[in-house]
Amino acid sequence: MLIIACILVVFWQQDSVHTEDVSVRSYNFTGKDIRLVGGNSELEGRVEILINGTWGTICYDGNFDIRDADVLCRMLHSNLSALEYYTGSRYGYGIGSIFYSQIACWGTEQTIHMCSSDTGVFCSHLSDVGLMCTGCPRTAVHTYGQFEHVNITTNGDLYTGNCSNGTSTFQFMYRCGLNGSWEEYGQKCGPIDVRDVRFVGGVGPYDGGVEVLVGDTWGPVCGYSYENGRSYYSFAAVFCTMKGLKYVTHRTTWRQNTTNGFIGHVQCPSNADHVNSCNYTTVYLCTYQLSVACEGFPLNISSVQLVGGSSSFDGRVELRVADRIGTISPNKFEFEDATVLCKMIGLNASLFNVDYAYSVRYPMIRDLQCSGQESHINNCTYTTPHSFTNYEKGAVTLLCTECGRVNFDVIITGRGLPNTPVKTMDLGVISKSADLW
Ligand SMILES: *[C@@H]1O[C@H](CO)[C@@H](O)[C@H](O)[C@H]1NC(C)=O
Ligand SMILES: *[C@@H]1O[C@H](CO)[C@@H](O)[C@H](O)[C@H]1NC(C)=O
Ligand SMILES: *[C@@H]1O[C@H](CO)[C@@H](O)[C@H](O)[C@H]1NC(C)=O
Ligand SMILES: *[C@@H]1O[C@H](CO)[C@@H](O)[C@H](O)[C@H]1NC(C)=O
Ligand SMILES: *[C@@H]1O[C@H](CO)[C@@H](O)[C@H](O)[C@H]1NC(C)=O
Ligand SMILES: *[C@@H]1O[C@H](CO)[C@@H](O)[C@H](O)[C@H]1NC(C)=O
Ligand SMILES: *[C@@H]1O[C@H](CO)[C@@H](O)[C@H](O)[C@H]1NC(C)=O
Ligand SMILES: *[C@@H]1O[C@H](CO)[C@@H](O)[C@H](O)[C@H]1NC(C)=O
Ligand SMILES: *[C@@H]1O[C@H](CO)[C@@H](O)[C@H](O)[C@H]1NC(C)=O
Ligand SMILES: *[C@@H]1O[C@H](CO)[C@@H](O)[C@H](O)[C@H]1NC(C)=O
Ligand SMILES: *[C@@H]1O[C@H](CO)[C@@H](O)[C@H](O)[C@H]1NC(C)=O
Ligand SMILES: *[C@@H]1O[C@H](CO)[C@@H](O)[C@H](O)[C@H]1NC(C)=O
Repeated sequence: MLIIACILVVFWQQDSVHTEDVSVRSYNFTGKDIRLVGGNSELEGRVEILINGTWGTICYDGNFDIRDADVLCRMLHSNLSALEYYTGSRYGYGIGSIFYSQIACWGTEQTIHMCSSDTGVFCSHLSDVGLMCTGCPRTAVHTYGQFEHVNITTNGDLYTGNCSNGTSTFQFMYRCGLNGSWEEYGQKCGPIDVRDVRFVGGVGPYDGGVEVLVGDTWGPVCGYSYENGRSYYSFAAVFCTMKGLKYVTHRTTWRQNTTNGFIGHVQCPSNADHVNSCNYTTVYLCTYQLSVACEGFPLNISSVQLVGGSSSFDGRVELRVADRIGTISPNKFEFEDATVLCKMIGLNASLFNVDYAYSVRYPMIRDLQCSGQESHINNCTYTTPHSFTNYEKGAVTLLCTECGRVNFDVIITGRGLPNTPVKTMDLGVISKSADLW
């Protein structure tokens, strides 16, 4: 009698699970004119829409944002909204038509066809939009990493990914339950303790890609793709503030090689002086990196050298600041400035010029102003441009000699070319003859 009762209970439980199974599978994606391709489930993937019997993709451009993503998810099922959107290789590249670009929805439209848009014929499949859709409210989920997979399960949709605390990698897991609310499982890997910040790959020490130190590992500060549609001017400043510098500007740049990161989507109180007092999500895979430009203290220029000339007496001026090397912008450059630079390598200035062919890098300093009496460039004034806005062609070149200033006007006039710039190459030869005098 007892045994029979137990069997009945087991049957009843299985029945109940089965009922739930049916209720979640009632997302009916059949016959829709939209599908998500290349993901782990029908709730994630590259967006493909059906127009006049042809499947095609949608172009991701600077205008695409979460409102457009919401409309696309709603086309899939009226209960769905967008959790994330992507571009690039995440879900593979589509083939055939690209129907729309420059999509601008209010977010309430029934279909993407009702939104303002442009043709996608000038787009590439490299920019196909990818989506993750969810039946739970977006604002309620506090992510600790970039979502990697969505699985549709009997008890709701599972959103999983990896995150790192600097020394260990964890898997986090959120479930959008059948009742439309988020449940968190797995290990939490935030908040983390950011110990320091640095800027890499810029022209000087005050600009470049932002990296933070967590544990004993440096990792990039990331941005999600949906940052494009939003204003983030408030948060990037904290990374300058942490270094005692003034914030100038920021941008997010696509990282060709996706690498592990730590934090992203940073939002700070207006008076934040450290990123540890900000909200952020920990990010495992960094597809976009935050870069900033700051300004502040004068640079600590340790040495000057001349390169690319005919000897160590002439060539393009290179400044060394810690482990970085940079050039000097010709803007406002004068003989007094040349005097100080040559003095630093134990010589007298003879002539300066501009290497216009040298445009590979941005200058490290600009508007250099020395009186000529200084013994070191650190005693002169200058501004520090950054790689975001001040594109300048050319770098200052110098001819330094052991003698005084040579009257090149005579030589140039003698050639009958009064306005022709003297090339460093010519000066090398002249320098030798000048030395003989
Ligand atoms: C959609 O939402 C309605 C109302 O909340 C609910 O009754 C229905 O079960 C949901 N459908 C799915 C597939 O989640
Ligand atoms: C799913 O939708 C299609 C098209 O509307 C319909 O033919 C099909 O019966 C639906 N399937 C279920 C299980 O409701
Ligand atoms: C779809 O076909 C209709 C009728 O042939 C045509 O008017 C319309 O422009 C087509 N739409 C697209 C997006 O090609
Ligand atoms: C999600 O589904 C895939 C296969 O579809 C499976 O390999 C993976 O383990 C599942 N992940 C979770 C968290 O259930
Ligand atoms: C996430 O972590 C698991 C186990 O640690 C690993 O197998 C997987 O490759 C990781 N995913 C990514 C995208 O790195
Ligand atoms: C939704 O269901 C979960 C259990 O699956 C429960 O913990 C949670 O409180 C429920 N939320 C609401 C709003 O009913
Ligand atoms: C990361 O997590 C591991 C395992 O929980 C822990 O041992 C380690 O101290 C953590 N690292 C940091 C920097 O918090
Ligand atoms: C990306 O990685 C590939 C192979 O690992 C390498 O050849 C390439 O130079 C890298 N590109 C960048 C921009 O780092
Ligand atoms: C940080 O998150 C908390 C809790 O979600 C929120 O109340 C607060 O406004 C957020 N702060 C910022 C600067 O976004
Ligand atoms: C400037 O750099 C030199 C080494 O190149 C170092 O000895 C000196 O302490 C630095 N000065 C400042 C103010 O950072
Ligand atoms: C350069 O500046 C330092 C400190 O600011 C000062 O001690 C030194 O006298 C200055 N030298 C010249 C030549 O201006
Ligand atoms: C610089 O030129 C002056 C003469 O104008 C000379 O006395 C001095 O020795 C020169 N200095 C160097 C370092 O060659």
